[in-house]
Amino acid sequence: MNEYTINPKGHRDTIAVHYGENRWMGSITTPIDYASTFVFKNVAEMVAFAEGRIQHYEYGRYGNPTREAAEKKLAALEGAERCILFDCGMSAVSSTILSTCNQGQHIIITDDAYKQTLRFVTTVMPRFGIHSTVVPMGDYDAMERAVTPETVMIISESPTNPYLNIADVDEVVRIARRHNIISVIDSTFATPYNARPLEQGVDIVIQSTTKYLAGHNDVLGGAVLGSEAATEPTLQWRRMTGGVIDPMSSYLLIRGLKTFGVRMERLNRTALKIAEFLEKQPKVRRVYYPGLPGHRHHAIAKKQMRGFGAVVTFELDADLDRTLKFLDGLKLCMLGPSLGGPETLVTHPALNSYYNITREERYKLGIIDELIRLSVGLEDPRDIMDDLERGFAHMDA
Ligand SMILES: Cc1ncc(COP(=O)(O)O)c(C=O)c1O
Repeated sequence: MNEYTINPKGHRDTIAVHYGENRWMGSITTPIDYASTFVFKNVAEMVAFAEGRIQHYEYGRYGNPTREAAEKKLAALEGAERCILFDCGMSAVSSTILSTCNQGQHIIITDDAYKQTLRFVTTVMPRFGIHSTVVPMGDYDAMERAVTPETVMIISESPTNPYLNIADVDEVVRIARRHNIISVIDSTFATPYNARPLEQGVDIVIQSTTKYLAGHNDVLGGAVLGSEAATEPTLQWRRMTGGVIDPMSSYLLIRGLKTFGVRMERLNRTALKIAEFLEKQPKVRRVYYPGLPGHRHHAIAKKQMRGFGAVVTFELDADLDRTLKFLDGLKLCMLGPSLGGPETLVTHPALNSYYNITREERYKLGIIDELIRLSVGLEDPRDIMDDLERGFAHMDA
C-alpha cells in the first residue's frame, strides 16, 4: 500500500485522524507501550544514542512512543513546534510556571483564571519568592500598568469559567512583546478547533486535555504547547520532576482526538442553539455565551474564534431554593464538574466549586446563588432542551 504523507500544517481533521500515529507492523492504532525502560543492543548503539546519532528510547520519564505519538498529533493540531504532555492540566500549569519563573520575579494573571491556577499563583508561588498581580479580565490598561521590571509572565485564559470572558489575545501579545514578557494562554475552553493563540503570537498555550481533546470524561491529561525555545525549560522540568502522562492515558487522548473535529463542530452548533433557547426562557434572567451578540466579548470572540465552544452559563430568575429545585428537576443533564465530554453536565458553581468560601466572598467573585453552568454534550439538542424545560417546570413544583 502506498503511504499517504500527512502534512502537519494541513487540514486539521485529517491531522486528527492520521498524524503522529505509530503504525508499527501495520497496526492501524498506535500501540500502547508500557515499557518504563528501553534497552540497547550493544555499546555502539548506546553511544550512538548518547551522541544523538540515532533515535531510540531510554527511559519512560524522558520518552515513550505512545506519549510521543499523542504529542505529535496535538502539536500539529495546535500549530505548535512542541507539545509536552502531563498527567493533568494543573501539572501543565504548575510546571510551566515553576520551570520558567525565578525567585524575585513577578507574574501577571487575570482575575477569572481557573480557581486552582489562581490559587497556585497567589498562594504557592509567593513561598518561592515569586509574586503576582491579579488584574481584571479585559482591562488591558491595568495589565500594562501591572508590568514591573521583574515581570516575566502574563497568564490569561480564554474563554474563562464560568462567565466565558474572552481574552483579547492581540492585546495580551502586544503588551507581552512590548515588555519582553512570556505570554501564556490557557485555551482549554476554546481548544485548537476554535482558537489558535500561537498563531496570534502567544508564546505558550496550555490545555487541560481532560476536557474536549480527550473528550470522553475518562482520562486526565494536560499539555504545554509552543516553540521549542519557549517550551524548553518546561521539557527539562518534566525530565527532572516527572508528572508525565502515562501510556494508557496517552492512547485515550490519541483515540479521543480522532473524532475531535466532528465533536467540536457538533458541540459548537448545539451550544449556540441551547444559548439561544435559554435566552428566550422567562425563568432565565441572563445567558453568558460568547456566540451571542449580547455577550460582552462577542466582538473579540468573532475576531479570533472559529466557533464559541460548548459551555453556556446562565442566571435563573430565582433564589437559591428554586435554583436547586431546577437542578433536581433535570434528568438527562447530569450534575457534575468538568466539561468537554459527550454527556451534558450541569454545575452549580456556588455549591460545587466555591462551596468552601463564604457567600460574601463568592459574590465578590461573581458566583451568585442562581448561576448555572452547562457543559453541553453530544446528545440531540432537542433532548437537552426538553430536559432544561423539565428543570424550569420543577422550580415551581
Ligand atoms: C481552564 C482550566 N485549566 C486547567 C484545568 C485543570 O485541568 P485538570 O483538571 O486536567 O488538571 C481546568 C480544570 O477544570 C480548567 O478548567
